[in-house]
Order: sequence, then C-alpha cells, then structure tokens
Amino acid sequence: MTTEIIKIFDTTLRDGEQSPGASMNTEEKIRIASQLERLRVDIIEAGFAAASPGDFDAISQIAQKVARSTVCSLARAVDKDIKAAGEAIKHAKFKRIHTFIATSSIHMEHKLRMTPDEVIKKAINAVTYAKEFADDVEFSCEDAGRSDIGFLKEITDAVIEAGASTINLPDTVGFRMPSEIGEMIRIMSEYTKGRAIISVHNHNDLGLGVANSLESILNGARQVECTINGLGERAGNAALEEIVMAMKTRKDIFVGLDTNINTKEIYLTSRLIANITGIEPQPNKAIVGKNAFAHESGIHQDGMLKNKETYEIIRPEDIGIDISDTLILGKHSGRAAFKDKLTKLGFEANNEEINKAFERFKELADKKKNIYDDDIRALVTSEMTHVEKVYELIAMQLMDSTGGVPSAAVTIRHKEKEKTDASIGGGTIDAVFKTIDRVTGFKGTLIDYKVTSVSQGKDALANVTVKVTFDDSEPAMIGHGLSLDTMLASAKAYIGALNSYLSMQGRLKNSSSKGI
Ligand code: KIV
Ligand code: ZN
Repeated sequence: MTTEIIKIFDTTLRDGEQSPGASMNTEEKIRIASQLERLRVDIIEAGFAAASPGDFDAISQIAQKVARSTVCSLARAVDKDIKAAGEAIKHAKFKRIHTFIATSSIHMEHKLRMTPDEVIKKAINAVTYAKEFADDVEFSCEDAGRSDIGFLKEITDAVIEAGASTINLPDTVGFRMPSEIGEMIRIMSEYTKGRAIISVHNHNDLGLGVANSLESILNGARQVECTINGLGERAGNAALEEIVMAMKTRKDIFVGLDTNINTKEIYLTSRLIANITGIEPQPNKAIVGKNAFAHESGIHQDGMLKNKETYEIIRPEDIGIDISDTLILGKHSGRAAFKDKLTKLGFEANNEEINKAFERFKELADKKKNIYDDDIRALVTSEMTHVEKVYELIAMQLMDSTGGVPSAAVTIRHKEKEKTDASIGGGTIDAVFKTIDRVTGFKGTLIDYKVTSVSQGKDALANVTVKVTFDDSEPAMIGHGLSLDTMLASAKAYIGALNSYLSMQGRLKNSSSKGI
C-alpha cells in the first residue's frame, strides 16, 4: 500500500508569535527555523513580511539559511504585502507566498466592507501578483469555518484558475465542532480533487484545534497548519506535536497516512520555544508537558513496573526524551561528558558553541550543586543564538532598596573600552536599566518584562525576557538573560535587546529592504 504524506506547515514564527508575550528577535527566529528544519517540517511560515522591517529582515535571513523546508511569508491580498513577501523570500531554495482574504459574510460586510464579487476580484489579483514572485502560492479563505460553502467553492475555483496550488480553510475563530469541520473538508477536498491541496488551520478557542485537524485529515486535508506547543493568537493553534503523535500512535485509524516529521526532535523543539518565548506549556499538556510521562499514583507505578504498556501509549524516547540517561553533571564533569550530554539532549552544536557553553556550564557548576537537563538546554540555547555582542556587561553593583534609594552601578564593554556609570531609580530594575541607558547612550522604553525559573530549587537559574524599544523606534526588541541572579539576568536581557536592535539596524542599512 502506498503511503500519503500529510504536509506539516509550521506557523510558530507567524501565528505563534501572535501569542501575547511571544515575540522573538531575529536571531532567535533563525535558531527556531533551523530546529524546525531538523524536525523536518515541510513548510516554515517565517512571518508576515509587510508587518515591520524586523519581520521582513527575519524572513529574509531565514530564507537564506533554510535549505530543506519551504520558506513562506504571509501577505494580505494587497500588492504592497505581496511585494514585501516576495522580496523577503527571494533567496529561499523552496519558497511560497501565502495570501489571504476573509470569506465569511460577517468579515466581508463588517471588516472588509466589500461585496463577495469584490472579494473574489481581490483574491484573483493577489494570487496573480504573487505568482510573479513564487510558483508556489497558497490562498487562505479567512474565517472559512463560518463561510458559505457555495462561496468557498466559487472563490476556490477563481484562485486555482489564477495559480494557487494550496487552498487553506481556516477555522479562524475556533468555532466549529470536529464533525462540522470534517464535513466542510470532505466537500472541499472532493470538489478540488486533482486541482489543489486542501489545507486546514484550526484555532483552539473551544479546545478543539487538534481534534478538528485530525478529523480534517481523515476527510481529505493533505496539509495541516499548526504550531509548536500550540502557541498562537488567543487560545492558540492546533499543536504540531499532538497531531503528529496522534497519527503515529493511531496508525490503525490513520491508515496509509504519515508525516515527514522526525518525532525524536519534538521535545527539543518544544523546549527551545519555551526557553525563547518564556511561555511554558502547562504541566499536564499532552506530549510535551512536564507531567506527560510522570506516573504519580501507586497503582499506576505498580503497573508501569510490571509492563509499561499498562499506562503508557507513547514512549518518551519517541519524542526525544532519553530516559536511559542518568548521568548527572556537576563541577567535576569534563568536556567529554558535557558533549555527550548535549548529544543525548539532541543538540547539534559546533565546537565553538560547545566550548562557550562548556565555559558557562563550569561557571554555573561552581555555584549550583544540581545541574538539570533544563539548565543545560537553557545554557546551550542562549549560546547558540548568535547576536553580536556590541555591548557586553562586565560588572554590576546594586544598592538595596530597603530604606534607601535604589541605585545601580554598571560597567559595560564597547569596542574594547570599558565604561562605568551609576544611576538611581524607582526600583532596582529601573535603576539598572537607566544606568545601562546612560552608559550606552541609547534610551530604552521597557514594554514587557518577564522572569521564569529554568529548573527547580532555590538556586534555580532565572530566565529573564524583556521587550524594549530603543530611541522610540519600532519594532520592540526582545532580549533574554540567564543567570542565577535575577538582577544580573535582567541586565543581560536588556543589553541583549540593545545588541539585537543594533544588529538589525546594521542589516537593514546594508539591505534593499530599507523603506519597506
Ligand atoms: O487564523 C487565520 O485565519 C489565519 C490566516 C491568516 C491563515 O491565521
Ligand atoms: Zn490563525
């Protein structure tokens, strides 16, 4: 029997980034795109090129880096968006433009204020223009879940005629039940058979994103749009890991169907996204939650000891969790043991990255007794995200706010020179950030600040994420800082955001993207 491949279209970098608080900087997006490629997703939606120069820059960097997966940019059905998308992906080996317009009555009447005929005309123009930049054009009927099926057929005929080869039918507001989505996909798949691939994109507002995607596959969808950890607008999107593992575990239901995903990369990819965005999957989240393989009750533990299949339907090793690895690293561990650990955790780091991460591991091991796998993942992730260190934190001294005025003294290295200054602030963090502004001469405005602990224990590493605009110019930049000391992590995050800003400015100056 021949196996049909369901294409996995990952939109973590676009719809996923629309999750509140999930913004990522260019270097982090590049790192994620490389990991998505290792996971073997078929299509990476790298962003929305027309949204900002930062988005454009990130897509264009990813297009130059990714070789195996198709790189895609989203574009509204307007010329300026399509042009930006086309230019951003122009260096990709495999490229796609994904253009969309709403097709439900409620969206056409109240949002677009357009008649159905006008919508069809715009869709045809968009696809025709997109074909000037890429052979592979996907068209989405936004809010297809609430659109009239007759109109879906009509607009689909028109865009296929104009050159679209994938028709995506999103349940944009996550409203539909699996049986309803299944019926829509069955009708549309039969209608477009041999002319286009039907794709789905299911939001999770009623917790049905994954169920609706699986039902769609059973009814003829041959592409699924999804995100790692289910990130996405509002309640999120269908989680990639859940769709893929459901298909793999229930081969008896998904007969003759498979994906290209290397499931052993799932856990590492999930941890990478959680580390970078600072958004942890809930502990009981299917497949990648911290408790997904933890058996707490005595009866379950007893069953597991007798035969794992009593309570385990997925083996942790299938998603890349190495349960046989009992090696605990500490301050006496050498480089070889460290490197071995990285391999077991699924990292493919080069020698320079290993050396840098090993140095940081040694510093950490001096101060922290138990080093968990999560600590190592966080250390290596921060070393493998390459932002040029234009400014580097050398030292920091704080005056406690108890009973006094909070103040900070900071030493920063820039172009081999060190400069120290001090400042007071409303609180300690305020004092630290103000001092960094004084030393560097850039005025930052803090938009968001988040701190999470990487592993357990009082001595856990702090992972600080900041979102800052510099000199009042958009877009806001994301910075991450990792340290046992939360204040130090905060200062590193703030300087990291500034370095990202400078590196993006440099790239935009040197590229033709300026002005988009
Ligand atoms: O949810 C949605 O409809 C979308 C489209 C742009 C594909 O994200
Ligand atoms: Zn969406």
